[in-house]
Amino acid sequence: MRTLKNILVTGGSGFIGCNFIRFLLDKTSSFNGRLVNLDALTYAGNQLSLADIDEKYGIAANGSNARYFFEYGDICNRSLVETIFTKYEIDTVVHFAAESHVDRSILGPETFIKTNIMGTFTLLDVTRNIWKDRNDVLFHHVSTDEVYGSLGETGFFVETTTYDPRSPYSASKAGSDHLVKAYNHTYNIPVTISNCSNNYGPYQFPEKLIPLMISNMIEGKSLPVYGDGKNIRDWLYVEDHNNAVWTIMQNGITGETYIIGGENEWENIKLLNVLIDIVASKANLSSDKIRSTITYVKDRPGHDRRYAINCAKIKNELTWEQNISFEQGLSNTVDWYLKNTTWIENIRSGEYQNWIKKNYHKRG
Ligand code: NAD
Ligand code: DAU
Repeated sequence: MRTLKNILVTGGSGFIGCNFIRFLLDKTSSFNGRLVNLDALTYAGNQLSLADIDEKYGIAANGSNARYFFEYGDICNRSLVETIFTKYEIDTVVHFAAESHVDRSILGPETFIKTNIMGTFTLLDVTRNIWKDRNDVLFHHVSTDEVYGSLGETGFFVETTTYDPRSPYSASKAGSDHLVKAYNHTYNIPVTISNCSNNYGPYQFPEKLIPLMISNMIEGKSLPVYGDGKNIRDWLYVEDHNNAVWTIMQNGITGETYIIGGENEWENIKLLNVLIDIVASKANLSSDKIRSTITYVKDRPGHDRRYAINCAKIKNELTWEQNISFEQGLSNTVDWYLKNTTWIENIRSGEYQNWIKKNYHKRG
């Protein structure tokens, strides 16, 4: 098992990253080192998601015993990344930072190429210069099942599936995967890679299917379903994903890729109908009334039809498994969004970014 001490978490203020930081500091006893969150606080980054963690583990409360540090900045900024590596004696990177939304990549691919490809390159190249030939270090790259393209009615993605990315987002993630593999092969940087299916859970930006639909239901807005609503995704609760990432970081074989998924396929329209019933019952609303707001809209260009995962490798080799059923995960998620209306309101009003500017503009 690897001993990981000073971990650089990129994109720790986003959905999966903030849940990862919360998981390592608050929910597992298997980590007692320090976490440094490097995040550019794009529209998807939200400092409010980690305000309680900063209070509990940050410098203000703990001084030299702090375990959580925030560094505001871009992963493409090489000198900043180098400074952080030296300042915190980074021995591990878990790389979440990315532009992550497919629709945005169709409207404006350039930032996807910059962050997902150039940003990953910058991080890797800094590790090459600073870590040199160390083998007590690790670069874990968090990637997506979308690099494998789209499935027909049968079959599953496995680690050996041929790459076939079909959106600017997935092409940029595929490019980043290849760079990580190349740095391992060419420069012996110790790496592991995970390719995961669709995550859901607390703190997900309300542009992705599940949080968008929940918040639209609460606000009485229409529910936009792309195309015929029969595209299929494989859903995994975010904490199960993070548990898998942590398992790989500790015990995964260097140079290996692990596919992660829920083994939990749903047509979008069927999932939406289940979600409507959960929200209606928890928020005391009429499910018929919510259902009447379903609106079929123009399809996403190049919309991948089906993703499905066979994650036998991580299950068999690293004894990971999903712990949270879909029923439980959706219930937790709806509860969280109903309870944390301020988090959503701050996003809707833009206030969450004003708060960031006030606190961090000097350091940008
Ligand atoms: P997200 O969009 O919620 O968060 C991304 C974070 O990265 C934000 O905090 C943002 O501010 C930060 N960021 C963006 N550009 C940056 C830059 N140039 N420098 C520093 N920080 C920057 O994304 P997410 O859903 O949490 O996804 C995290 C990772 O997991 C991504 O790499 C994504 O490809 C991958 N992934 C996501 C899913 C999913 O279902 N959401 C599934 C599989 C893999
Ligand atoms: O598979 C992993 C990927 O899952 C991650 O790599 C991406 O970062 C993440 O965004 C997600 O990509 P998707 O495109 O699958 O997620 P999204 O939530 O955008 O859409 C899920 C499905 O719902 C997809 O078939 C499109 C559909 N959809 C989405 C939205 C936002 C709708 O029908 N209506 C909508 O309004």
